[in-house]
Amino acid sequence: MDSIKIAIVGVGNCASSLLQGIEYYRGKSEKDAIGLMHWDLGGYRPFDIEVTAAFDIDARKVGKDVAEAIFAPPNCTTVFCPEVPRTGVTVRMGRVLDGFPEHMLDYKEDCRFVLADEEEASREDIVRELEDSGAEMLLNYLPVGSEKAARFYAECALEAGVGFINNMPVFIASDPGWAERFKERRLPIIGDDIKSQIGATITHRVLADLFRQRGVVLERTYQLNTGGNTDFLNMLNRDRLASKRRSKTEAVQSVLKEPLDADNIHIGPSDYVCWQKDNKVCFLRMEGRIFGDVPMYLDLRLSVEDSPNSGGIVIDAIRCCRLALDRGIGGPLISPSAYFMKHPPVQFRDDDAYHMTEEFIQGLRDS
Ligand SMILES: NC(=O)c1ccc[n+]([C@@H]2O[C@H](COP(=O)([O-])OP(=O)(O)OC[C@H]3O[C@@H](n4cnc5c(N)ncnc54)[C@H](O)[C@@H]3O)[C@@H](O)[C@H]2O)c1
Repeated sequence: MDSIKIAIVGVGNCASSLLQGIEYYRGKSEKDAIGLMHWDLGGYRPFDIEVTAAFDIDARKVGKDVAEAIFAPPNCTTVFCPEVPRTGVTVRMGRVLDGFPEHMLDYKEDCRFVLADEEEASREDIVRELEDSGAEMLLNYLPVGSEKAARFYAECALEAGVGFINNMPVFIASDPGWAERFKERRLPIIGDDIKSQIGATITHRVLADLFRQRGVVLERTYQLNTGGNTDFLNMLNRDRLASKRRSKTEAVQSVLKEPLDADNIHIGPSDYVCWQKDNKVCFLRMEGRIFGDVPMYLDLRLSVEDSPNSGGIVIDAIRCCRLALDRGIGGPLISPSAYFMKHPPVQFRDDDAYHMTEEFIQGLRDS
């Protein structure tokens, strides 16, 4: 089978983990490959994915081979595959728009974005690069709050005729207007905002569902998250956070029998702790009532490397997107979006979304 050709916008920590993972699994066999949901997904293995174009705006990444750029600062995620061979793909200057948060200027260059001194790409430049590179889909890894930039790149994907995987919380796949445009162009789209492998959202949802199934009334809950990567640094600016909070909160509210009053649910990125780097820590509390209206409390602390946690999901989202392309399916992929993303076009319980995604892979469902 041909390789799956991807383009990436935002060569940050998540892109680094994904590209390291593609190389890491190349040397493995099915029985010694740890950390995957699927070795073979519809005939595609993890290393059947190839990056053919990449865009960024950081001086330390633009102009470099993408295999080098993924290890450039401020990327700080675990290096689990140091030997990523050169790809021959140079990271191109993108279009900045609202991708560069001004408050980052107050921090050391090692911890923040540094704007490249290159002419910004026009829409025509990006579309041409996507077309010339043979990319089949564009993966969006822009910082939270990049509303204009995310829409700009989604427009480029539509114009270039490539699928779109929206890994961050600007609502595109879950926006009916955008979804319709991808459908009209018969281009698949999966989104929005990755739900990590074992992250705060999936853990919180599964526990909330467990409370519901076991007849426990959830009265109050919080989910506080800290981390020390640029994603967390970016999210110190509360004005950029609205869609992230909505995405994370709705992901939990949607599995409850009755949504909680806004005063009784608090979910969000909570602070930036520089030394944590790409380690994310989630503090989760759930307060409920069991048999006889007796109170119970659950406290959980989850500590996980943030970016590989997204890689384990995106590696499957890419292959599902390619299956849709192979089958001539366009528009939002309902089942994979519900399983892989926090804010999909339609929310389902995770067990249901899992089975629906398996059926999609087997060709038993169109989306
Ligand atoms: N587990 C996870 O890490 C996880 C889970 C869910 C969602 N996400 C989301 O995925 C996105 C990427 O996360 P990350 O940790 O890789 O972030 P990151 O900060 O490491 O990377 C963002 C990259 O985008 C680049 N960039 C900024 N503006 C740009 C523009 N206009 N054009 C091109 N490039 C631009 C930056 O230079 C940087 O390289 C974030 O929005 C994050 O919230 C991540």
